[in-house]
Amino acid sequence: MGAPGLVRLPIVKPALDEVRRLLRGADRTLALTGAGVSAESGVPTFRGEEGLWKSYRPEDLATPQAFRRDPRLVWEWYAWRRELVAKCAPNAGHHALAGAAGSGRMSVVTQNVDGLHERAAREASAFSETLELHGSLFRDRCEGCGVRFPARADVDTTSEEDLPRCPVCSGLLRPDVVWFGESLDQTILNSAFSAALEADVCLVVGTSALVQPAASIPLATLEGGGVLVEVNPESTPLTALSAVSVRGRASEVLPALFA
Ligand code: OAD
Repeated sequence: MGAPGLVRLPIVKPALDEVRRLLRGADRTLALTGAGVSAESGVPTFRGEEGLWKSYRPEDLATPQAFRRDPRLVWEWYAWRRELVAKCAPNAGHHALAGAAGSGRMSVVTQNVDGLHERAAREASAFSETLELHGSLFRDRCEGCGVRFPARADVDTTSEEDLPRCPVCSGLLRPDVVWFGESLDQTILNSAFSAALEADVCLVVGTSALVQPAASIPLATLEGGGVLVEVNPESTPLTALSAVSVRGRASEVLPALFA
């Protein structure tokens, strides 16, 4: 599925052939994805002309300080994003990765909180766990006791008193996502770096590669003697380190690679 109004980019065939050759020869592949993989599902990216950070300030909405200052405003933004993402469906790029991961030779690590990789895997009945580095839009966590809950569908953001509370300790619930200035889950991060180190190919899809520590994960593949392949319409700081950069959209390139 192509996004409406977008001009198709020519995908260079020799680049695709080279990536297919690398993937065929790889015992282990890691796919690291970012917002670009979900762009054609209708989920906004963060940076770039249409990105969320053009209209919103991360320091008002995606930091622990912002939540302490104005939890109602932060919840309003996340409730809006939940609603938006709930209406989106995995695209051909998610499906291609779910199929490849289902074969057992590929791991998927994502910075996305939209759950679309997991949904694609479920739809394919493929067993593959996605490592969600930045958490999930569809889980809540208690600020007080840390217990996690599946997200409720309807968050009342009328006033601070109406915000969701923990059934265990009555603490304020928050979306279970990683905000700027917070640490990532160490177990998930270690698993991601181990998978990268073991990978013969790290496929970096739809990320600006500007946010750490996620942007360093592909470097572990290089350290381990593997290669990077980038799938992105634009260049990124990882382009110069990549064996091949395929300039195209995830929903077109990934199915072509794994067909
Ligand atoms: P960004 O918005 O920074 O980057 C999106 C990337 O996707 C850009 O490099 C685009 O060129 C590329 N892109 C756009 N459309 C694409 C398509 N159809 N196919 C392939 N690529 C496409 O998103 P991330 O790199 O994921 O963190 O951002 C990293 C983190 O910064 C996010 O997880 C989020 C954000 O602020 C937090 O909120 C903590």
